[in-house]
Amino acid sequence: MPSVVLAMTGASGAPYGLRLLQVLIRTGHDVHLLVSHAATRVMAAEVGLDLDLKSFDPRVLLETQVRPVPGTTESPGRLWYHGLTDFSAPVASGSAPSAGMVICPCSMGTLAGVAQGISSNLIHRAADVHLKERRKLIVVPRETPLSMIHLENMQRLTAAGGIVLPAMPGFYHQPQSIDDLVDFVVGRICDQLQLGIGLTSRWGTPGESDS
Ligand SMILES: Cc1cc2nc3c(=O)[nH]c(=O)nc-3n(C[C@H](O)[C@H](O)[C@H](O)COP(=O)(O)O)c2cc1C
Repeated sequence: MPSVVLAMTGASGAPYGLRLLQVLIRTGHDVHLLVSHAATRVMAAEVGLDLDLKSFDPRVLLETQVRPVPGTTESPGRLWYHGLTDFSAPVASGSAPSAGMVICPCSMGTLAGVAQGISSNLIHRAADVHLKERRKLIVVPRETPLSMIHLENMQRLTAAGGIVLPAMPGFYHQPQSIDDLVDFVVGRICDQLQLGIGLTSRWGTPGESDS
């Protein structure tokens, strides 16, 4: 099964990225993980993780804010971590297969870099590869309010084939906790990846998940 590329950047919303990583791995999907420097500052602020990207063991992210994952398999996916300047990593090339890339959370800075085709780090480059190969690229931006520059970058990315999936949880499923809100967004990302992961119940089928 092709792997998923997951990039975490410095927008607020580290719990979304962490939950997505855990869901993918525990449902048996291989993940290539990329983390920006700003993402480490956000993780420190939001989930108390103190990461040094130079001596970083990605498995620590699988042990943070852990909770049950529907559809957990006995054969978890594999996890690879690539540094931001490692342009020889497989994800830097269109010849390496992938089921898609998710940037979650996505800062306005990374959104701009991708929308303008500036491959100055491995996150921008991998996103550029996904667009040029016509593969799925899902960005999960978080900022408020939005400037015209932000909106134009989202429009540009959408026109290039990317999917802009804002971190905007709904409330019609009557969330009881922050975890429910996180899963609302992560469930939508999983739906877009089309990997058969059913994280949350769906409108019209209360209490059911398709896992
Ligand atoms: C605690 C914290 C929260 C932040 N939240 C956001 C945010 O929600 N959206 C955003 O676009 N930038 C946010 N930023 C600013 C970005 O981290 C900053 O623009 C950074 O340069 C983005 O770099 P990156 O895209 O390489 O991760 C935040 C920064 C910090 C320290």
